Amino acid sequence: MHDAFETTARIAGIGTYLPERVLENADLERMVETSDEWIRTRTGIRERHVVAEGEALVDLVERAGKAAMADAGVAPGEIDLFLLATATLEQPIPASSAIAQPRLGVVNAACLDVSAACSGFVFALNVARQFIATGEAKNVLVIGAECLTRFTDWTDRTTCVLFGDGAGAVVLQPAPAGDGILRCAWKTDGTYADLISMPGGGCRIPPWDREAIEQRLPFIKMRGNEVFKVAVRALTEISAQVMDEAGITVDDLALFVPHQANLRIITAVGSRLKIPEDKVFTNVQWVGNTSAASIPLALGQAVEQGRIRRGDLVLSSAFGGGFTWASVLFRY
Ligand SMILES: CC(C)(COP(=O)(O)OP(=O)(O)OC[C@H]1O[C@@H](n2cnc3c(N)ncnc32)[C@H](O)[C@@H]1OP(=O)(O)O)[C@@H](O)C(=O)NCCC(=O)NCCS
Repeated sequence: MHDAFETTARIAGIGTYLPERVLENADLERMVETSDEWIRTRTGIRERHVVAEGEALVDLVERAGKAAMADAGVAPGEIDLFLLATATLEQPIPASSAIAQPRLGVVNAACLDVSAACSGFVFALNVARQFIATGEAKNVLVIGAECLTRFTDWTDRTTCVLFGDGAGAVVLQPAPAGDGILRCAWKTDGTYADLISMPGGGCRIPPWDREAIEQRLPFIKMRGNEVFKVAVRALTEISAQVMDEAGITVDDLALFVPHQANLRIITAVGSRLKIPEDKVFTNVQWVGNTSAASIPLALGQAVEQGRIRRGDLVLSSAFGGGFTWASVLFRY
């Protein structure tokens, strides 16, 4: 079963960027009460990339976006829609996509930030696909980028070991149904909003509230254990739903490229879906959890390593704050 539309969106080009600085587990051992062994066995993470002083979201966006446009052979002026999925804005006003626009040269694009935490990139793909399917857009730049380490509480060992920075980008172009994106599903359940959150820094608790800063409210909080259980169930269900709706089985898949939050979550989801281990892509060991950047970064690296080739069927599923979760099945 395909969409009602005759046209869908295909990935015409892909690009990634990771900041140069690497933070290893051994570095974290010197900052909080933790160990390389604990981090590796509970999360799979060995190291993550961290922005340098003076580097921020838009710097990562520019590098990944330009690489994707070059890979697609599309000039920046041809992009008519630019969606930026991020939870770590350059600044509250204006939109980070607007700030990035001149740097990318996408002067003819309408620019929109998409906020759906770790599911942001897949949410943005789903939005982009609709505009392409209706003929409203021809060249869409979709970027997932995060500067999470700026909002990481480096005194909280339960979260600071998890996150990293990075960016991944794709250029989407029209394709006939059956090629490109075959199915996409997305969900939100806001009753879980408190489980992954940054309580301070918005209008209820403004960024200048000194008491809130002392209480470390403008930092990412997560109740990891409770998130874990819902994440495994939700990722499994939505991945199975998308494959079902497309009438495919795991045998048809070339690669499963899930959100890279925790190796144990990925392994649990892969085994519930009965996807053989060699068809599950992981890079969380080297980049940590990069939220909205996670899937495009993983896709880019998988293409670079030759694990995804043109014509392959790929499934990507994400889960994150909101809660939000989403899955996309596409032919590369
Ligand atoms: C965060 C996560 C790695 C923690 O692993 P866990 O097995 O659930 O561990 P728990 O939170 O139950 O903590 C177990 C113990 O380890 C301790 N601990 C937590 N972080 C630690 C660290 N970095 N180093 C050493 N010990 C740590 C806890 O304090 C707790 O100690 P206690 O038993 O004395 O209270 C895991 O829950 C996780 O990955 N959750 C999902 C996160 C996620 O995927 N988010 C996705 C959306 S972005």
